[in-house]
Amino acid sequence: MINTALKPYNKKVDVNNSFSVYYLDNKEVKSTFAEDVKKGLTAENKYLLPKYFYDNEGSLLFEKICETEEYYVTRTEASILKKYSIDIAKYNHNKHLLVELGSGSSVKTRYIIDALKENSRNLHYVPIDVSDIMISSSKQLVSKIKGLQISGIIAEYEEGIECVSHLFNEPKLIIFLGSSIGNFDLFHAEQFIRYISTKMNYGDSLLVGFDMVKDINVLNAAYNDKEGITAAFNLNLLNRINKELDGNFNLDNFEHLSFFNTEKKRIEMHLVSKTDQCVSINGIREVIKFKKREKIHTENSHKFTPEMIAEIAAYSNLHYSKYWTDEKNYFNLCLFTKM
Ligand code: AVJ
Repeated sequence: MINTALKPYNKKVDVNNSFSVYYLDNKEVKSTFAEDVKKGLTAENKYLLPKYFYDNEGSLLFEKICETEEYYVTRTEASILKKYSIDIAKYNHNKHLLVELGSGSSVKTRYIIDALKENSRNLHYVPIDVSDIMISSSKQLVSKIKGLQISGIIAEYEEGIECVSHLFNEPKLIIFLGSSIGNFDLFHAEQFIRYISTKMNYGDSLLVGFDMVKDINVLNAAYNDKEGITAAFNLNLLNRINKELDGNFNLDNFEHLSFFNTEKKRIEMHLVSKTDQCVSINGIREVIKFKKREKIHTENSHKFTPEMIAEIAAYSNLHYSKYWTDEKNYFNLCLFTKM
């Protein structure tokens, strides 16, 4: 047993002078893909968790979604970062530690790193991610940026940030980009940010990207691109079950459905069974029955209003210092400070 008070990680690997990786796997408490699929597909209302979209194929499809004309989210956030990262850095001139929840597209992170580096010769970047793809992107970053120190933490966000609070004590800026927070409903977003807040010291800041409520046609189009890439991304979950859990889903028998639920202020994604059918999944020893038009709920992508953002800050005991947006006010990058 590791005593986390003494050593908040299981293993540390020094890749080179500028880059170390901390591993924090408590696999005993984490449920596996098989367990979660079994639970979701045998539930009264079938569902699958969106974190399972991102196998290799799914990660590639997500990158292609970001390049579609309709999916404005990534492009808009990147444009805000490009335009305002110097200003964001001004608000964080005393920070030499940059922590990122999810290592994301390094393009966006690059804007912030470059801007912070103007004030800081020894910037320390700490990406937290469950996926070890982070290792290769970090290797690239240290090789390109002189004087950048990277400590990657392979972990879920909560345990990763807990580890950061034990390992590093200097003032920090935490970033959570891409409206990843949209996978939480308001209640869980509040719980999550409040937890992060408890791991922040006075003066620390948190920068969060929120996708805003907007024209319903813009929202619906973003999750129903005409090339069908979002549909392929959604259906790929069934492919993943076929590959990893020996399932026999016929992808032609399901269709992609996504729409903005106005009342709940969220995009919902589902996979709809086109016929009555049975699907066997040997890896979980189940045969799953579907009625015609029965749905598997695969993702919620919540959209936010200024009031909701203010509420999250207040609930988390964070001071809402400043936000940056684009001309159409599609996306808000919000800075919260612990005071
Ligand atoms: C990565 C969760 C921010 O909700 O917009 C994109 C995922 N799903 N298209 C989003 C996604 C379908 C994306 N997030």
